Amino acid sequence: MDKLIIRGGNRLSGTIPISGAKNSALTLIPCALLTEEPVTLRNLPRLADIDGFQHLMNQFGVTTVIQGTRPEDFGRVMSMEATRITSTVAPYDLVRKMRASILVLGPMLARMGEATVSLPGGCAIGDRPIDLHLQALAAFGAVIELAAGYVKAIAPDGGLPGGEFDFPVVSVGATENAVMAAVLANGTCRLFNAAREPEIVDLCNLLVAMGAEIEGIGTSDLTIHGVKRLHGATYRVMADRIEAGSYACAAAITGGDVFLEGANAGEMQATIHALRAIGVTVEETKKGLRVAAEGPLRPANLTTAPYPGLATDMQAQLMALVCKAQGTSVLKETIFENRYMHVPELRRMGADIETEGRTAIVKGVDRLTGAEVMATDLRASMSLIIAALAAEGETVVRRIYHLDRGYERLEEKLQLVGADIERVGDS
Ligand code: UD1
Repeated sequence: MDKLIIRGGNRLSGTIPISGAKNSALTLIPCALLTEEPVTLRNLPRLADIDGFQHLMNQFGVTTVIQGTRPEDFGRVMSMEATRITSTVAPYDLVRKMRASILVLGPMLARMGEATVSLPGGCAIGDRPIDLHLQALAAFGAVIELAAGYVKAIAPDGGLPGGEFDFPVVSVGATENAVMAAVLANGTCRLFNAAREPEIVDLCNLLVAMGAEIEGIGTSDLTIHGVKRLHGATYRVMADRIEAGSYACAAAITGGDVFLEGANAGEMQATIHALRAIGVTVEETKKGLRVAAEGPLRPANLTTAPYPGLATDMQAQLMALVCKAQGTSVLKETIFENRYMHVPELRRMGADIETEGRTAIVKGVDRLTGAEVMATDLRASMSLIIAALAAEGETVVRRIYHLDRGYERLEEKLQLVGADIERVGDS
């Protein structure tokens, strides 16, 4: 298994191209199930999770063609054609490896009148139930059966009649599943307190390009008038706001100055606000973001929340950054109950962090030191890389398959701006 070796201390400077958003791509891909015509996605990041989802689509009988397979290409184009769906079952073996597989439930149900998906197992960042996905589909008229570790959703008369659902908690995944199920309903579906993350706007925009009728895009109240059929479309995946935010933290902790090419400032205001509170200069331009850190880093109080609040996916990276701030920061994680797994690893690098429930108290330290650390989940892994870039000596990050799930060519991008980082095979 590969590991990353990072020798800290280099100041990052230069340009990092930002890839297409993983979290958007993983909800755009299953939209291809909704039509017999080809759906082509551009700017797809080259990631293990995308390959996994392609594999899942193939297993349903969807043909997929990928362009941009040269190693030097950032971003790829994938055309998918679901002329005939040969299976409506997402098996345990694939779902187990990739939690996002649950996002086929809604579109498969809409297209085929039934869908069977293995229940996702336990997850490193908390319990992550799917009850809201199922409640929303049931509210639109689906019959839900749970048996032998699988969930089966059935539209009794071949199509969903429509209905209303008010989310008791904001859920990104459940909103995505509900929207994809609703677009082919026989009637109208309404969602209240829906998630309004930019990735959901991206999903709605693709569906509209395919002929869907959706009102309220970008708000928490969505009205979807079902249409008889959808057609194909070509669509560009939005820029990855979490990748951009992660590299912003990396640049800042090294006192660097980088340009994040393609980052969309409008979708990252909460992160930009947090960076500025920490004393980082952020310049918003049409072509991307310039991030520079000159003076000392300041402590900050940061609380994660659904969009437009601070993304839970930025918590670990910002925590790594304030490990080097001059003073005490307080972080609160309100989305997941168990998302501080990076804390023990950051402590091994010299960080001073205490946690109590969902709160973390981070006392800034003058120096971090390289250590052997273990990645536990995607964003936690990135926080270790960020800390390592500013640490004295060498850090070895193991279990980097987590990073390969979410950061396209991470070490190459960091090398581009002067980081001393290399990937080596484990012996
Ligand atoms: C969540 C994050 C998303 C992030 C992703 C990966 C939010 C609102 N969502 O999306 O930003 O990119 O993780 O880290 O920030 N819940 C239920 N029942 C359900 C579904 C969710 O109780 O059926 C709860 C979850 O336990 C969690 C909250 O709702 O506390 C939000 O979860 P949800 O948005 O669905 O998770 P993801 O879609 O994975």
